[in-house]
Amino acid sequence: MRAGTDRRTPIRTLLAGAADGAPVRVTGWVKTSRFSKNVSFVHLFDGSTPQTVQVILDVDQAEAFKTRLGIGAAVAITGTWKASPGGHQAFEVAAGAIEIVGDCDPSDYPIQRKATSLEHLRTLAHLRPRTNTFQSVFRVRNAASWHIHRFFQERGFMWVHTPIITASDAEGAGEMFEIVAGDPPFFGKRTFLTVSGQLAVENFAQAFTDVYTFGPTFRAENSHTPRHAAEFWMIEPEIAFANLDDVIALAEAFVKEVTLATIADCEGDFDFFDQRIEPGVKAAVIGAVEQPFHRVTWHEAQKILVGVQRDWEYPVGPGTSLQSEHERFLAEEYFKGPVFVTNYPADQKAFYMRLDDALTDGVATVSATDLLVPRIGEIIGGSQREERLDVLDDRIRAHGLEPEGYWWYRDLRRYGTTPHGGFGLGLERLLLWMTGMKNIRDVLPYPRTPGNAEF
Ligand code: 4AD
Ligand code: MG
Repeated sequence: MRAGTDRRTPIRTLLAGAADGAPVRVTGWVKTSRFSKNVSFVHLFDGSTPQTVQVILDVDQAEAFKTRLGIGAAVAITGTWKASPGGHQAFEVAAGAIEIVGDCDPSDYPIQRKATSLEHLRTLAHLRPRTNTFQSVFRVRNAASWHIHRFFQERGFMWVHTPIITASDAEGAGEMFEIVAGDPPFFGKRTFLTVSGQLAVENFAQAFTDVYTFGPTFRAENSHTPRHAAEFWMIEPEIAFANLDDVIALAEAFVKEVTLATIADCEGDFDFFDQRIEPGVKAAVIGAVEQPFHRVTWHEAQKILVGVQRDWEYPVGPGTSLQSEHERFLAEEYFKGPVFVTNYPADQKAFYMRLDDALTDGVATVSATDLLVPRIGEIIGGSQREERLDVLDDRIRAHGLEPEGYWWYRDLRRYGTTPHGGFGLGLERLLLWMTGMKNIRDVLPYPRTPGNAEF
């Protein structure tokens, strides 16, 4: 057993350039191994990089360990970092001491070398993190999360930890999971898992100006689509003294910077997506964020949809709503890039969105925006908020809700109200777009969807 220091050198660090001849200790799991008279080696991964490190065994080591160094085994190897005569890698580890930390019977191991379908791997959510695809997905998920925080922190936004347990329906859509605890109720009233931190974070914007919340949100919508999950992570910035244009400018800068920084951090992972998941995705995404995003009003968008000769599954034109097929057409085919759709009909959007001053074609609209991207459709929903108390009360009632239930939200409209707004980005939607992965179940560590909460 080793002493308590020098636990390991991450493979990423080694490959980035350890000195020739340096003593090293690598830990990880066997990806592949080969034992033969001439040369025996194992390839290890440890999660720090898409690459494996090659460990060369001498004849005696190979003989002693070949039955225990199959795929999946957990090992710790000390040895020497050496220039590699083989063509595939510049350096390799010449094994000194080999420790089998955790045996793995290859005949029984559910993760085999041959490709397995993503659907099947969903039934192995505890082991799929060891596959190439999920190694890349979750490294990218981590990098994106880091750059999301960095983006806001560098701009002086304050991270607010809004509650997960709430009594108010932030979207007013009645899609909340109820918390059943205690009789009488634990909290003295009915409570739910939050659908959005927005209302809570709005109060903080009225005190700290630029804020954001980033955490899990929950929706009890019974949507069986590749883009909906019952538990997902949302980033919601909120800015005071701001209008819809300010919100859109922030959203555009945010998507662009986070996307480029994440790709730059995870080059190898994006090469993998490009080659194995969605050919061309890397260049397409980079191309998309290197251009200005488009902008169109909901009414203009409907005119575009009416003007194309298509067999739409859902109707288009006045009185209709944008369905996924329409959203994807706009982003993918018409604008050929991300597009902000703005000023939706008021009756299609949440109660808190600011009512526009003038009607369009006789229709009341709100200062809302959705950002649509190719292949996915909506990744962001946002708006300027209704800061006028009388208008807000009318809108709450028009949605069949009770103003009293939102008393504290309404209070902010009485005490130093400001024009303000923000947006919500679904982290998983952004990841689907960046990586080319097709199903939200494959970018969440443990997806929760209708009928699904194993693991
Ligand atoms: O459009 P939504 O419902 O907007 C809000 O929740 C606002 N409170 C945001 C705000 O203004 N602060 O949701 C925002 C985003 C969507 O655009 C989508 O990316 C994601 O959250 N989203 C989901 N992602 C996965 N599964 C679901 N069921 C989702 N519902 C929304
Ligand atoms: Mg939305």
